[in-house]
Amino acid sequence: MVEKSWVLIVLVVFIMHGDESLASDPDPIQDFCIPNPKFGYIKTAHLSILPCKNSSEATTDDFVFSGLKSSGNFTDTGLATFPVNPTIFPGINTLGISFVRADLKVGGINPPHFHPRATEIAYVVQGSVYSGFVDSNNRVFSRVIEQGEVMVFPKGLLHFQMNVGEKPSTIFACLNSQNPGLQKIPSAIFGSGINEELLEKAFGLNHKQIGTMRRRFDPKTVN
Ligand SMILES: *[C@@H]1O[C@H](CO)[C@@H](O)[C@H](O)[C@H]1NC(C)=O
Ligand SMILES: *[C@@H]1O[C@H](CO)[C@@H](O)[C@H](O)[C@H]1NC(C)=O
Repeated sequence: MVEKSWVLIVLVVFIMHGDESLASDPDPIQDFCIPNPKFGYIKTAHLSILPCKNSSEATTDDFVFSGLKSSGNFTDTGLATFPVNPTIFPGINTLGISFVRADLKVGGINPPHFHPRATEIAYVVQGSVYSGFVDSNNRVFSRVIEQGEVMVFPKGLLHFQMNVGEKPSTIFACLNSQNPGLQKIPSAIFGSGINEELLEKAFGLNHKQIGTMRRRFDPKTVN
């Protein structure tokens, strides 16, 4: 009973503050909240909430994630990302944080993208990585980040990385949202089905060039 009324209070608080909680993650109202697999997600107009299990049932293992020892799967740009969110690491639920391991092959790139809901700090575990972001005046801040260095990518700003070293590189990055969102510019533009005439006018490209970009970023949008 007690647990149910807590869920209700949490729900009401979340709904009342729905708009703020879209802007950034809300502060936790308890030490932690390990989702109870029995309940699954509770969906509201604004967000999905994972109700907590009784904190007396939490164990140390709930707060340890062991899945980052190897890289994720590589894409054709030579990038492997392994994003860790509360779905695969329940211990971080409600803590306003998530993280990712990214590996880049020699010459591999992480294409320009942004996270609408999070600032990111990226630590180069190994390698030499040309890294940067673009501010809202289109000024680029970029340089090669060496092993042991950290770069911050401010919330919502376009950023990118490229392995310019002679060995594979590994990056560990932390984001200040448990659901930072990810928008990759090439696929958002050419892989989302935006009207072709608009794309031609916006980018000064012809029908054939748009087709090439669409085939590359989402073959489903080629008609
Ligand atoms: C959590 O579990 C403990 C021990 O089983 C119990 O005493 C307590 O009432 C439970 N708390 C809630 C909120 O259900
Ligand atoms: C990599 O691909 C395999 C096979 O498709 C899949 O089981 C695994 O979850 C993927 N790993 C990641 C981190 O996405």
